[in-house]
Amino acid sequence: MNNIIKKYFYESKSFSIKHEKYFNVYEKLLSRFRDKEITLVEIGIHNGGSLHIWKKYLPKAKIIGIDINEDCKRFEKDGFIIEIGNQNSQEFWENFFIKHNNVDVIIDDGGHTNSQQINTVVCCIPHLNNGGLLITEDVNCSYMFEFGNPNKFSFINFSKKIIDDINFKFPNLGKFKYSLNDYIYSIQFFESIVVFEINRDLCHFNKIITNDKENYNIKDLRYNFKVSNLFEKQFFKKFKILRKINEIYRTFKIRNFNNKNLKKFKKYFK
Ligand SMILES: C[S@@+](CC[C@H](N)C(=O)[O-])C[C@H]1O[C@@H](n2cnc3c(N)ncnc32)[C@H](O)[C@@H]1O
Repeated sequence: MNNIIKKYFYESKSFSIKHEKYFNVYEKLLSRFRDKEITLVEIGIHNGGSLHIWKKYLPKAKIIGIDINEDCKRFEKDGFIIEIGNQNSQEFWENFFIKHNNVDVIIDDGGHTNSQQINTVVCCIPHLNNGGLLITEDVNCSYMFEFGNPNKFSFINFSKKIIDDINFKFPNLGKFKYSLNDYIYSIQFFESIVVFEINRDLCHFNKIITNDKENYNIKDLRYNFKVSNLFEKQFFKKFKILRKINEIYRTFKIRNFNNKNLKKFKKYFK
């Protein structure tokens, strides 16, 4: 078996249940932390099976397990830090981070409801170190009736909103009232898993730059069509307001040009 995490799953001291496809995803995401002294938090302990996997795979890591079930305290004797609490509670997370400071990896394998998954993201993202990951498992629940879905406020729709939030780091595209784009540098979607990568330093506003090297004035064929001006006469170009109107007019013309024939691609959105 060449997947080490899957091997440790089978060798774990206690029971665990996982999607078979998760092991490759975890190997891809966690291998960079293998010899690092990180803090990993897992929400959802149950029988402790996955805590043992992480301990073996990340031998230098401090591992904290969280569960709503007091019975999970028993895993303290195996060397884990165990916190009992509800991931759906803002107060729980405030106290958690006062006690434990910032962490590096959070795996959400808790209750899997929309509100639990969303609350965990909004409460935890500001407390992850740069380079850290928040991994939400079982987002397939966002499509399941018994989890209250489909729903406009499902976890997967919240995650899709984060795509726009990240892209709004390009100036003047948009702005959300609630934003995490000073923390989340990237988002990855795997089947049933969403991963948020934190890096405050890389979250700055984007800008266009040039390298000042030789310019051969080769025509950019993107603009190889004639867009006439609304006010062709030089005289009109003197007035700021008319220049502005002309700019808006040209923008609409270019937009129409770019959208020409787009309807035939409608089938790819079905
Ligand atoms: C799927 S099991 C975790 C399995 C474990 N991670 C493994 O792979 O072996 C889910 C656990 O989440 C816990 N849980 C459910 N709702 C929770 C909540 N609101 N806050 C914290 N833990 C919760 C349950 O008590 C249960 O032990």
